[in-house]
Amino acid sequence: MRTVLVIGGSGTIGRAVVRELGKRHRVVTAGRSSGDHRVAIEDIASVRALFAKAGRVDDVVVACGALHVGPLDEMTQAQFRTGLDSKLMGQVNVALEAQHHLPDGGSITLTSGVDAHNPLRGCVNTVAVNNAVEGFAQGAALELQRGLRINVVNPSLLEESAQKFEALFHGFEPVSSARVARAYSRCVEGAESGKTYRAW
Ligand SMILES: NC(=O)c1ccc[n+]([C@@H]2O[C@H](COP(=O)([O-])OP(=O)(O)OC[C@H]3O[C@@H](n4cnc5c(N)ncnc54)[C@H](OP(=O)(O)O)[C@@H]3O)[C@@H](O)[C@H]2O)c1
Repeated sequence: MRTVLVIGGSGTIGRAVVRELGKRHRVVTAGRSSGDHRVAIEDIASVRALFAKAGRVDDVVVACGALHVGPLDEMTQAQFRTGLDSKLMGQVNVALEAQHHLPDGGSITLTSGVDAHNPLRGCVNTVAVNNAVEGFAQGAALELQRGLRINVVNPSLLEESAQKFEALFHGFEPVSSARVARAYSRCVEGAESGKTYRAW
């Protein structure tokens, strides 16, 4: 049995990942104000402290990270930085720390989003950041040592989130959280590295 750390484990995606991986593994969760441990992924010291207190972790999944949604002609630099600092650098922070804490053969799973490959109006920040997350994993996979793997799950809009985001995602077929969770299972329990698994 492996120990899987799910950051964002109490969120919409995180709960589904915990349900799926919890069938076969020990799962510990983390969030800013929820889960077994406290962490803010934007803060590298907080991420470092998480790995120090979490004990042995074989695999880490990140299912969180904030983005900015809004029109380009009104966008400020600070708004664009929202996604860079949170969803991109937050996940990069976790990977940078995880590579030194995970045992041989461990895995890192990050999260992007369907708009990376299907750009939508008002989603300049999300398209840029989600592509950058996938690019980071492609590059990092070449250099990770000791059999460590890194992959990305690219989920479409979840059924549970369809109402909240319906104005952005007209025409998209929402996916079940169980289907999305299986993509995370492939990342953690599979053998590949540097991949993006689409859950569309
Ligand atoms: N839902 C969808 O349909 C969908 C589709 C495609 C991609 N995504 C992406 O998947 C990720 C998760 O989405 P979600 O809908 O599951 O989000 P969510 O329901 O809002 O859950 C986010 C989870 O992460 C934790 N969290 C939030 N910010 C954090 C931070 N800075 N550091 C540590 N933990 C943090 C939250 O707990 P606390 O409040 O306790 O921190 C919560 O457990 C996002 O990056 C989103 O862009 C979502």
